[in-house]
Amino acid sequence: KDITVIGVPMDLGQMRRGVDMGPSAIRYAGVVERLENLDYRVEDFGDIEIARPEKQNIENEGNLKNLNGVIEASEKLSQTVSDVITSNKFPLVLGGDHSIAIGTLAGVSKNYKNLGVIWYDAHGDLNTADTSPSGNIHGMPLAVSLGIGHERLTNISEYTPKIKPENIVIIGARSLDEGERELIKEKGIKVYTMHEVDRLGMTKVMEETIEYLSHTDGVHLSLDLDGLDPHDAPGVGTPVLGGISYRESHLAMEMLAEAEIITSAEFVEVNPILDEKNKTATVAVALMGSLFGEKLL
Ligand code: ARG
Ligand code: MN
Ligand code: MN
Ligand code: MN
Repeated sequence: KDITVIGVPMDLGQMRRGVDMGPSAIRYAGVVERLENLDYRVEDFGDIEIARPEKQNIENEGNLKNLNGVIEASEKLSQTVSDVITSNKFPLVLGGDHSIAIGTLAGVSKNYKNLGVIWYDAHGDLNTADTSPSGNIHGMPLAVSLGIGHERLTNISEYTPKIKPENIVIIGARSLDEGERELIKEKGIKVYTMHEVDRLGMTKVMEETIEYLSHTDGVHLSLDLDGLDPHDAPGVGTPVLGGISYRESHLAMEMLAEAEIITSAEFVEVNPILDEKNKTATVAVALMGSLFGEKLL
């Protein structure tokens, strides 16, 4: 299958500058060449246009920072992603902060009746304006996609919800806010925290995840680089110690490649300003290699 790369230079979902350069950093790390070497035809769509307010956070609505800018970008991204799927290509979305998942999932879910989602992340991103300690929308996209949150966010692309709670698997969680814990319990969302990753090992975690999502008709991978340990992926805005290792992450991607279940993907939160010599973008591209079937022998 052909791949279309879509850049989303989004930084309005959080307060640290530099994550808007994530798509450039990932391109510089060689994403197109890497996938072409695996014999895919790769087209680079370029970047979705993001509003650049002179001052961030001037358009707060309640506890939602930069709400209008996030909505505007989400609508554009949703349309672009959906068009890519309609033309029978695999959408590979480069972030940008994790608020872009609102638009990605809006566009992807239009094309599937029973979409599965793997949320590879230190965080749950299950906050709403009421539960968020920060007001940063990058901490809310999974809740929004479940139809929970401000209706201008949940109604992007004019339908809600985008996904069902029983079709989600969170992997790598180690920082959850109180409201997120309650939502996980209330909705019965499947979560492999770092405790389970350590206890079961990544092999078992991925075997179970693949089995758990086997009834879906497509699986979106939303990979936040802060799911990895900051030692391996230092260029992220909200690092949390004790994360998934580089090796475990490659194993996870290789098992997904072997299972052939992933139908769309996004790699988010790469911030080259906070990075060490573009290490995090380089890791992202290496993981994409594994996800698309790269093997040593
Ligand atoms: N839970 C925190 C918040 O709501 C952190 C969210 C971090 N999210 C992310 N996509 N990195 O602000
Ligand atoms: Mn995160
Ligand atoms: Mn995240
Ligand atoms: Mn982060």
